[in-house]
Amino acid sequence: MAFITCLTVVSLLVSPITSSPVDPSHVDPADILKRDPVPAGYQSPPYYPTPKGGWVSDWAEAYAKAYDVVSNMTLAEKINMTTGTGIFMGPCVGQTGSAERFGIPNICLMDSPLGIRNTDHNTAFPPGITVGATFDKDLMYARGVALGEEARGKGVNVLMGPVVAPLGRKPRGGRNWEGFGADPSLQAIGAAQTIKGMQSTGVIATLKHFIGYEQEEDRMSSIITQGYSSNIDDRTLHELYLWPFAEGVKAGVGSVMIAYNDVNGSACSQNSKLINGVLKDELGFQGFVVTDWLAQIGGVSSALAGLDMSMPGDGAVPLFGDSYWGSDLSKSVLNGTVPLDRLNDMVTRIVATWFKFGQDKDFPLPNFSSNTLDRTGEIYPGALFSPIGIVNQYVNVQANHNIVARAVARDAITLLKNDHNILPLKRNDSLKVFGTDAGGNPDGINSCSDHGCDKGVLVEGWGSGTSRLPYLITPQDAIANRSSNAKFYITDTFPSDVTANSNDVAVVFINSDSGENYITVEGNPGDRTVSGLYAWHNGDELVQAAAEKFSKVVVVVHTVGPIILEKWIDLPSVKSVVFAHLPGQEAGNSLVDVLFGDYSPSGHLPYTIPRNESDYPKSVGLINQPFGQIQDTFTEGLYIDYRHFQSANITPRYPFGHGLSYTTFNITEPTLSVITPLDSEYPAARPAKNATPTYSDVIPPPSEVAWPKTNFTRIWRYLYPYLDNPSAAAKTNSTSYPYPSGYSTIPKPAPRAGGAEGGNPALWDIAYSVNVTVRNTGSRPGKAVAQLYVELPSSLALDTPRLQLRQFEKTRTLAPGQSEVVTMELTRKDLSVWDVVVQDWKAPVGGEGVKIWVGQSVGDLSVVCEVGGECGSA
Ligand SMILES: *[C@@H]1O[C@H](CO)[C@@H](O)[C@H](O)[C@H]1NC(C)=O
Ligand SMILES: *[C@@H]1O[C@H](CO)[C@@H](O)[C@H](O)[C@H]1NC(C)=O
Ligand SMILES: *[C@@H]1O[C@H](CO)[C@@H](O)[C@H](O)[C@H]1NC(C)=O
Ligand SMILES: *[C@@H]1O[C@H](CO)[C@@H](O)[C@H](O)[C@H]1NC(C)=O
Ligand SMILES: *[C@@H]1O[C@H](CO)[C@@H](O)[C@H](O)[C@H]1NC(C)=O
Ligand SMILES: *[C@@H]1O[C@H](CO)[C@@H](O)[C@H](O)[C@H]1NC(C)=O
Ligand SMILES: *[C@@H]1O[C@H](CO)[C@@H](O)[C@H](O)[C@H]1NC(C)=O
Ligand SMILES: *[C@@H]1O[C@H](CO)[C@@H](O)[C@H](O)[C@H]1NC(C)=O
Ligand SMILES: *[C@@H]1O[C@H](CO)[C@@H](O)[C@H](O)[C@H]1NC(C)=O
Ligand SMILES: *[C@@H]1O[C@H](CO)[C@@H](O)[C@H](O)[C@H]1NC(C)=O
Repeated sequence: MAFITCLTVVSLLVSPITSSPVDPSHVDPADILKRDPVPAGYQSPPYYPTPKGGWVSDWAEAYAKAYDVVSNMTLAEKINMTTGTGIFMGPCVGQTGSAERFGIPNICLMDSPLGIRNTDHNTAFPPGITVGATFDKDLMYARGVALGEEARGKGVNVLMGPVVAPLGRKPRGGRNWEGFGADPSLQAIGAAQTIKGMQSTGVIATLKHFIGYEQEEDRMSSIITQGYSSNIDDRTLHELYLWPFAEGVKAGVGSVMIAYNDVNGSACSQNSKLINGVLKDELGFQGFVVTDWLAQIGGVSSALAGLDMSMPGDGAVPLFGDSYWGSDLSKSVLNGTVPLDRLNDMVTRIVATWFKFGQDKDFPLPNFSSNTLDRTGEIYPGALFSPIGIVNQYVNVQANHNIVARAVARDAITLLKNDHNILPLKRNDSLKVFGTDAGGNPDGINSCSDHGCDKGVLVEGWGSGTSRLPYLITPQDAIANRSSNAKFYITDTFPSDVTANSNDVAVVFINSDSGENYITVEGNPGDRTVSGLYAWHNGDELVQAAAEKFSKVVVVVHTVGPIILEKWIDLPSVKSVVFAHLPGQEAGNSLVDVLFGDYSPSGHLPYTIPRNESDYPKSVGLINQPFGQIQDTFTEGLYIDYRHFQSANITPRYPFGHGLSYTTFNITEPTLSVITPLDSEYPAARPAKNATPTYSDVIPPPSEVAWPKTNFTRIWRYLYPYLDNPSAAAKTNSTSYPYPSGYSTIPKPAPRAGGAEGGNPALWDIAYSVNVTVRNTGSRPGKAVAQLYVELPSSLALDTPRLQLRQFEKTRTLAPGQSEVVTMELTRKDLSVWDVVVQDWKAPVGGEGVKIWVGQSVGDLSVVCEVGGECGSA
């Protein structure tokens, strides 16, 4: 995240208090600082030292180049690479210091996962949840490429996406829409495709937020409050929340952002088990780890725990010109408390990543300012006195990306119900269109900062995961353009004077919004606290009123996640329901493409739609409490979303993966080929690590961080690596530092589950390949999605969800009668469970007892293969 005004910084710092119904004058500071104990059994063990980067052969060339540079860097240049220059201290939401002697500029980091934030002439793509609903790997990749091209064109080195945490554990969670859906494999595939696409353009992707970040309220720790603790057992961490991070690291992601919250009572920004142990050792991550904005709460502690970059660089109170790192990290290195080789590893990781994506060659400098849209302005708005200059060059980076933006939005559209084939509409159907969600925002398309309002058609959630709209095609515009006979009632109160003819089709638009915690919209502080899982603005009443008057009602829903449809879904006149998710700038065009039948809908639900909110496990509700630290314990374990509904035997309203078409498909002729037999429980032994760079361990002379004497204009409040009295810092005795318990500088033995980026490469051996034939059995062209779910045998002696999505494939457009053979591959890891005792992935030997199901949703599985047995219809 990041923000655009000083006011939002202040509101962010105080929001943990103001969001609770407590009179601040009665607050005892001792109560605020009190920590509720982490439940028995949950703990975050120490894991030191940080494993060094550079041992993976894919990165060898980049590390060799980085070594050549870093070995020549002064201490000041090294510190510059690790620390942001301060909030509002440059064009981007965050930038590091520079090392001009080596051609390394201030490295620019920018939001967001759906487009370049707070600028102009950019594309506002559909967000993650919409991308997930396409179930289309090619579109996932193509959108990633387009995002990367736009970032590069603006001079953004690091574009902060994709999002895979939140994973979607809590249906009311505010930022679920930034990720791809409530399933680890869907998140993993969405993220890997996005990363590969983005990074193919030379832009560094950021996989975020690591980890267990499942609600907005009380997420942040600060000097006055404790962010919540997500208490997650080891198996659940591995099989659900870590899964997409592992696949993203395997895809070569260049950076990972840590989350605000704690895990097992230890802040993610300085949790050594998570960063050193899980991410850098087990997953073999070679890039750099960056904080979320102002998530750092300690200097030495975070350095030792494996953090590599502090953003935006500020300390406990932003804009005061101090930092947990910057000059303080200079001190910690000079006094020996932070080992020089830890600093060298931080810097090598950052510089190697910069080389890996070719940013040393012809990478543009930022040509925009995320602080203002004016041509000229303050170059450092956070400074006391800033120089003024040209800050915006208005570079148009949109190219033809509207095409992929529209294709994603269109192919995500999910048809839940279509009685009597009311859809598609005809051009001359008599349409009566209702709801403000069909129209525009009367105050202007970008009138609410970071989309912090719900006015007009909902095309993005709110917060830092947004971008400004270059234009917006509303449903009203697009329908008016396509239909010869449409009347619009852009109101959320059903008009009393509407006359209904028997042939009329009423099209009712409703929505449900959510976003990030630093903005509250209509009482919802990010999470859907007040609105719950119901349509906003009396949308349910609007549908009911239309259904009373008209006999043919089509409901179009723009939503961040599941909503409860029970108030109207079974009314006889509600014939069709369309989820258009969050479509971005091409909202109207993508919708009419489907409503009027130019394309059949081909989206599928990236989450379950329940009948009642009480059908979810109790433990996935939001937690809010005035004092102490929220202990959010993931007691439901692996049983979230459809995994829960299946095990609790609750039939939802619509299952995960559901989505109809204007045609019909059948899936037949399953075949299964064994590729690499699972001839042992555990994968083959991991490869050893290659050598990592070694530098001189002589602590540099303090003079390397003295203020420059010539040609230097200091910007007040800007964060520098320099010290007033560097030699004083060098005189302290490092052995007197109270290191965390378990601290060590002796490397741990390489974990057996590791061995390459993502983990042991043998985990990605293809175990089985499954073919099915997908045939269009209806009378219109369309695309189908084949979804593959695995059922693991009870012989693994672990309580495992009955069905888990592991693969999917979307067909090309099939004409009536036409078919396509779809091939889906399963890795060893896809069939494994995490063995907490052995600390490795365990598979059923020979695949004994494994069943592989393929169908069009988790509730509609038409074929099954038993490994070692038959394949046939289910
Ligand atoms: C959290 O605690 C659980 C229970 O002790 C443990 O299995 C798990 O590994 C811990 N996770 C982290 C990241 O510390
Ligand atoms: C680093 O220093 C070595 C030895 O002085 C020199 O050969 C090399 O060119 C330098 N590399 C860079 C990138 O400055
Ligand atoms: C550190 O970065 C700042 C900001 O970009 C720059 O002014 C300064 O010269 C850099 N220091 C060194 C030693 O390169
Ligand atoms: C070294 O400096 C750091 C940063 O100021 C400080 O936190 C730490 O306590 C110092 N170490 C010693 C032994 O004084
Ligand atoms: C801004 O971007 C354009 C196009 O990518 C590039 O030609 C130009 O050099 C950039 N401006 C700066 C200051 O680097
Ligand atoms: C609508 O158009 C179709 C042809 O596309 C025509 O058959 C039908 O009669 C028209 N209906 C009306 C009410 O004009
Ligand atoms: C300082 O800047 C001036 C003018 O840009 C330049 O001529 C001079 O060489 C610089 N001095 C140093 C020590 O870099
Ligand atoms: C540093 O402190 C430790 C313990 O306080 C002491 O044993 C050691 O002699 C000191 N070393 C120096 C160089 O002062
Ligand atoms: C599966 O389909 C692929 C082409 O899609 C084909 O090459 C392969 O032979 C098929 N395998 C089986 C077992 O039918
Ligand atoms: C699938 O569709 C084909 C073509 O319509 C038909 O022959 C076949 O019986 C169908 N199979 C199933 C299992 O519905």
